[in-house]
Amino acid sequence: MIRIENIVKTFGKKDAVVEALRGISLSVREGEMVAVMGKSGSGKSTLLNILGGMMSADGGTYLYNGKDVNFKSQKELVKFRRNEIGFVVQYFALVDDLNVFRNVALPLKYQGYSRKKITKKVMETLASLGIEDKAKAYPFELSGGQQQRVAIARAVVKSPRIILADEPTGALDEATGEEVQKIFRTLNENGKTVIIVTHDAKVAEKCDRIIYVKDGIVEGSSETGQNGCHKGGSV
Ligand SMILES: Nc1ncnc2c1ncn2[C@@H]1O[C@H](COP(=O)(O)OP(=O)(O)OP(=O)(O)O)[C@@H](O)[C@H]1O
Ligand SMILES: [Mg+2]
Repeated sequence: MIRIENIVKTFGKKDAVVEALRGISLSVREGEMVAVMGKSGSGKSTLLNILGGMMSADGGTYLYNGKDVNFKSQKELVKFRRNEIGFVVQYFALVDDLNVFRNVALPLKYQGYSRKKITKKVMETLASLGIEDKAKAYPFELSGGQQQRVAIARAVVKSPRIILADEPTGALDEATGEEVQKIFRTLNENGKTVIIVTHDAKVAEKCDRIIYVKDGIVEGSSETGQNGCHKGGSV
């Protein structure tokens, strides 16, 4: 489903250049749940941003279902991102002065859904995450775990095929992190392809496969055996 080859991304200019990605290649199969691990600064977030069409690469190719993702067209990138990707981050990134319902409704509003359809979709999604009773609450009234559920609801409300999560349990205590990890697994069991950047070995080992990133390239990968797939080796 996803195949990137020799992706390069550089930040800064002249004497302050940072090579965040130095020719990284990997692929992810449809329906897979993959963890990405690596030291701070190794390029994980940059990788995820490029996979999600949030950022363009400076070089290399990105094939999505065999089709080239065109980094040169901002319009195409936005379309790709809106149609295919749900993104979840460590600190939830909810809009403070919108209630839960309105936060989750945002991606649908951008796409011009009718009010009726928005209400149905949002309430169904909140219910699937067990937070329908929080629809009128504001983010500051919620626990970290509840806020992350809202953020997940916002990511999945338009039914993207891929969920990308950057340290989604990083700001949560262990038990809450485990619950959030289980939500991602359930989404995966319901057909979503999931890629989670994490520092937490417990979260990573519950994915099907772990990809290790070091200095902007893939250092290796290992199957965890979680999903009964032991194909091994290939990234
Ligand atoms: N917008 C930016 N401008 C300049 N440099 C950046 C930018 N984003 C990332 N970098 C640099 O690129 C490198 C990779 O950063 P990235 O955020 O991808 O690392 P990471 O693996 O996600 O780290 P962490 O685990 O701390 O989140 C780092 O050296 C970082 O300083
Ligand atoms: Mg990061």
